Amino acid sequence: MRRIIKPVRKLGGTVRLPGDKSIAHRAALFSILSKAPLIVKNFPSGADCQRSLAAAETIGVRIERNNDGMILHPPATFQSSEDTVIDCGNSGTTVRLLTGLLAGSTAGGTLIGDESLSRRPMKRIIDPLTEMGAEIFAAEGGTLPLKVRGRKLTSLEYLMPVASAQVKSSLLLAGLASSCDVTIRETIITRNHTELMLQEIGKGLEVRDIKAVAVEDPNDPRKRRMVRPEPYRREIRLKADAVINGGEIDIPGDFSTAVFFMGAAAISGQTVTITDVGLNPTRTAMLDHLKAVGCKVDIDNRATISGEVRGDLKVTGGKLKPRKISGDTTVGLIDEIPMVAVMAAFATGTTIIRDAQELRVKESDRLMAISENLKKLGIKVGLLEDGLAIEGGKDLNGADFESFGDHRIAMAFSIAGLFLHGPSSIDDDSSVSVSCPDFYKLVDQVTQ
Ligand code: S3P
Repeated sequence: MRRIIKPVRKLGGTVRLPGDKSIAHRAALFSILSKAPLIVKNFPSGADCQRSLAAAETIGVRIERNNDGMILHPPATFQSSEDTVIDCGNSGTTVRLLTGLLAGSTAGGTLIGDESLSRRPMKRIIDPLTEMGAEIFAAEGGTLPLKVRGRKLTSLEYLMPVASAQVKSSLLLAGLASSCDVTIRETIITRNHTELMLQEIGKGLEVRDIKAVAVEDPNDPRKRRMVRPEPYRREIRLKADAVINGGEIDIPGDFSTAVFFMGAAAISGQTVTITDVGLNPTRTAMLDHLKAVGCKVDIDNRATISGEVRGDLKVTGGKLKPRKISGDTTVGLIDEIPMVAVMAAFATGTTIIRDAQELRVKESDRLMAISENLKKLGIKVGLLEDGLAIEGGKDLNGADFESFGDHRIAMAFSIAGLFLHGPSSIDDDSSVSVSCPDFYKLVDQVTQ
């Protein structure tokens, strides 16, 4: 449905957001392999996570809903085979994690998805899983549908060629399902919800950070320099006897959805508080970004529940400055780049985003989608192979934006519309249901 966005007079207040999408996917899929029931609280209603839950149900998980949330009862025997069709919708996390899990199990499945998911690359999981002995049959080009025939896999040592938590988690779930050793080495650290959840409700996973050490400089023995003794930063080792024991997972609010409310505060110069939101350090690069571009960030009521840090976040905007973003910083901000780009449109100066080629293979080609929409605002934007150069503008007029069927593009440009002169529109707002069905109601809560 086309949605009209009107400029707001005032912004401020408090919101509490649905449960974190990444953590929820893992809770649903972990229940398939768990030895005992899993109590899950604050599971979000967004379509993506519901796909993972439905997949778990197809494989044999029994869902018992109650006032507190739900209890996921693991199956006594798996009920799916390679011919059981499992529709993953728009959800990359469902298909990538589930493929690993099924590949190493005694079950199987034929995994399909919508048009966008059917275009996305799966070779990144198929290759290492095949190295473990997996039987996965993909469409030509390594895309969906994926027919997965579960079997006993062999151990793997893998240096990650792309920074991807989905690939990492897929391999760990394959190892868990098949009871085999999996060692993963990351040169860029990605979100670690799989590791934390396994440590919280299971056992058999070790994480080792490779610290840089001081060595003598060969050119000048009086000097010392810091060197990392390995060509990677983190090693994640899943042992063959690793298990998920069951227990409780209380899911914090979704930081990546909170980012749109942070962005609104940043652009308006006003304050928004987001309560009970996930603050896992592998997800919060946006907080550093906000500070770097001139905003104020306060955190209250910090606590660790179910292995994940959470708290109340207060963001106050300011006069926005430009910034150059690349390398690890881009990876840390990967889901937040649409909002970062919209903020850049309201900043004074040129924001440069590099090393963001992964955005070309998300729910849409996000670099292209951002560039097209910013151009509608009359913003000068350079579309690079791996990023964007955005020259901030003043007194921007409302525009008719396109969502490209991508929830984060729809949400970021809906926020832009709140601060433009005159009304704007989004061609189709339905994609927000993927991660935050109540997005517009929540925006209404903090705007006037
Ligand atoms: C996710 C990992 C990221 C992220 C996605 C969710 C996850 O994808 O963009 O929204 O839950 O593991 P990649 O692993 O492909 O970078």
